[in-house]
Amino acid sequence: MAKNNYQAPTGMHDLFQGELDQMARIEQMAKRVADFYGFEKIATPILEFSEIFEKGTGAFTDIVEKEMYTFKTKGGDILTLRPEITPGVVRAYNQHGMQNLPKPVRFWYLGPCFRHERPQAGRYRQFNQLGFESLGAEHPIIDAITILVFYSLLKSLGFKKLAVQINCIGDSQCRGGFKKALSSYLRSKTSSLCVQCRVRQKKNPLRVLDCKEEKCEAIKKNAPQILDHLCKDCSDHFKGLLEFLEELEIPYNVNPYLVRGLDYYTRTVFEISEDTEDGKAQGSLAGGGRYDGLVKLLGGKDTPACGGAMGIERVINLIKARTKEQPPKEPTCEVYLTQVGELAKRKALKLFEQLRQANIKVAEGLHKESLSAQLKQADKMKVKYSIIIGQKEALDKQVIIREMKNGRQKIVDMDKVVRELKGKI
Ligand code: HAM
Repeated sequence: MAKNNYQAPTGMHDLFQGELDQMARIEQMAKRVADFYGFEKIATPILEFSEIFEKGTGAFTDIVEKEMYTFKTKGGDILTLRPEITPGVVRAYNQHGMQNLPKPVRFWYLGPCFRHERPQAGRYRQFNQLGFESLGAEHPIIDAITILVFYSLLKSLGFKKLAVQINCIGDSQCRGGFKKALSSYLRSKTSSLCVQCRVRQKKNPLRVLDCKEEKCEAIKKNAPQILDHLCKDCSDHFKGLLEFLEELEIPYNVNPYLVRGLDYYTRTVFEISEDTEDGKAQGSLAGGGRYDGLVKLLGGKDTPACGGAMGIERVINLIKARTKEQPPKEPTCEVYLTQVGELAKRKALKLFEQLRQANIKVAEGLHKESLSAQLKQADKMKVKYSIIIGQKEALDKQVIIREMKNGRQKIVDMDKVVRELKGKI
């Protein structure tokens, strides 16, 4: 690659003010929801031992088989850039002995994840997840609150056509029976499955239900359904959850093919997407479910848990598409500070800081020399007032305040500028 042609790695992006502002706004809104429902913020390392993903996310998932950034450190540790945050949260819960805390223990987080996927709309190799996790409670009301938290956050971000898909994929009691029935059905259809599903059928048959290939869609239609194989506990749990969602007036679709691409799920799985063309192109905005076996699998005590995560970039993409047609925002600064000459520059710099302390948003051209260039910029920015400090004003400790729409000017003592502007804005 030519020296002056360096690019960010494929599927990874520079974020600029616009996206970062959106991200901060989403985080602020998430914090409000989190505080209300009693979730505390957690930040786990971006690197974790690979083993927690191999064991937790699942050795035969696409994430672990194909998408992890894994490397050996100089000390010989095998670490992975986290492809998701749930196993790290569970590892932290176990490591810090949190099983003795009042239950459920609730966390929320926001941070980067890394998956070596084929980049496409809404699918990146580095992206940010915002998640909510509740550990230590088995009741379906926890599943309902998890869905509610994402649903209300997305609503408050202006999403109007949210579609919640939900399914129950059983537990260690009943999933085995279903897997057997599904495997035997799939074996009879092997030759008609897509190439990937022929492998999945042997390693992880549930994942065939998730396949979007036309060939496999047709086969799925007549496949045995998990909901017919649930044990009584799972069935009661699912019914309980659906009743809570109805009470909360959260519209949902039961999708018997929803299995999700991570292996730790038990019982509830859900996904939330925006029901628009853009939304479909990007995939789900949020997804999650119950993971009653993960805490134990990663070395802790038997602990039920439930959670989900939302893809920040997908949310921002849809907000951007929605706001594209809206009129441009009003100018953020109402005042522009201009100066001519070295002494004026010094006075202007001091005044600039005084205006900041007084909370008056000011744009400036402190590095510029020409007054007309500065006033042109002030015009472009559509500010209401310009402050002009020339050599004479600097010596007299005064400024000129110019009303941009009519060119009217007023001379004001430098120590009265803040008060004068406060009265005008
Ligand atoms: P996930 O469905 O793999 O679940 O990811 C959650 C969300 O992250 C997705 O709905 C999507 O918005 C976003 N996402 C995933 N991959 C990408 C990508 N390559 N580019 C952009 N956005 C992406 C999990 O990760 C689970 N840990 C969720 C969970 C938490 N389950 C229980 N607790």
